[in-house]
Amino acid sequence: MPAELACFDAACRARFPITEVLYNCPRCGGLLEACYEWEGIDAERLKRLFRERRMSNALIDSSGVWRYRELIPFLDDLDAVVSLGEGGTPLLDGPRAARYAGLDRLALKHQGFNPTGSFKDNGMTCGVAQAVRLGRRRVACVSTGNTSASMAAYASAAGLQPVVFIPRGNISYGKLAQALEYGARTLEVEANFDQILALVRTLADRLGIYLLNSINPFRIEGQKTILIEMMDQRDWLAPDWIVLPGGNLGNTSAFGKALREMRQLGFISKMPKLAVVQAEGAAPFYEFMRRPAAGAFRAVADPETLATAIRIGDPVSWPKAWHEIASSGGLVAKVTEREIADAKAVIGQCGIGCEPASAATLAGIRQLVADGRIAREADVVAVLTGNLLKDPDYIYRYHTGRLEAPSGVAIPGAFANQPVVVPNDADRIAALLE
Ligand code: F0G
Repeated sequence: MPAELACFDAACRARFPITEVLYNCPRCGGLLEACYEWEGIDAERLKRLFRERRMSNALIDSSGVWRYRELIPFLDDLDAVVSLGEGGTPLLDGPRAARYAGLDRLALKHQGFNPTGSFKDNGMTCGVAQAVRLGRRRVACVSTGNTSASMAAYASAAGLQPVVFIPRGNISYGKLAQALEYGARTLEVEANFDQILALVRTLADRLGIYLLNSINPFRIEGQKTILIEMMDQRDWLAPDWIVLPGGNLGNTSAFGKALREMRQLGFISKMPKLAVVQAEGAAPFYEFMRRPAAGAFRAVADPETLATAIRIGDPVSWPKAWHEIASSGGLVAKVTEREIADAKAVIGQCGIGCEPASAATLAGIRQLVADGRIAREADVVAVLTGNLLKDPDYIYRYHTGRLEAPSGVAIPGAFANQPVVVPNDADRIAALLE
């Protein structure tokens, strides 16, 4: 399948060889995407093939990314692929979360079941495959934590050297610990995500390091498979809404591309709407989408949220995300710290759990159902992006009444579940539990 890089800007659409190391269009500076001359795609035949591969013991087939390789055909051969068993994440039913949101039903596609605990693995297996194919030895990213954990794992597994840049003091220990354990050279920079991204882009060119942030179009290809797998799990019946948290907006771009391509190639017969949810203190895309016609995208200089994964003020992929929200007829919402915290506890009470950024989805759905933009009977899937264990400190604070918003205001914790200290005394414990 002939593959190329294409400029995403509709006025440019310049094309470049798929093996050129580019992160932006050299002609106009626009974002790049992988594009294909789709030939001989038979959706029904592929749907059957995807199912058959689930029974295979070969990692390349059981992987929830590479199982769908015909829909991400940027490699000439699969020798460059390193899989850690990514994807294959469950589509769960969350009745308690549905009740909380005011919906009849709510499905949760949980990307926290990935090998490093977040959706980043879907993209990273592809980004690292491209690095291997290009013969790059070192890869780098700036990260709010999950990208760095994922990149560290996949790069090390592939025998490459991972270099991660993280905002000092602003990622959870769970994620930092992963980067260290997976052997990444870890640089804690005294700056925020957006500032470090600018820094890393300069350094990548200077030091010949391959950049694996979500600006990398191959990561976006991998993240498409989150929705391809979701549709496969739903027997290719598209829901009304797909709801996801928005930070740097790479995932929004990937989801939109996946939906457009699945529709174009005859895998699904309708377009679901995408709803992106941002945290109140880091919501530049929300602000922009309120009045996109009004002009320029305004970055938030000092983004703040306890959902550190989405603490991003200047998301690079906003032009793609804008296009995807518009073409799906979707929308963008923003939620408060308290809404995120309580929604997260409710997802925990479902026996499912997730990290703070992921819970923005449920908080957003609740708001959208309350104001009538999502109907009570709508078919909705929320994508939970990261595992509960990514940020245990947040959880402990919430349940013990010690969680404070970045403004310093205490978050009361409507669903707080305090641990109780008891003496080593059977009678007194029995009295307590009776
Ligand atoms: N949820 C989680 C758990 C994340 O880690 C991220 C992004 C997002 C949502 C937002 O996704 O950026 O594609 O809009 N984390 C990045 C990182 C930025 O560095 O790990 P997005």
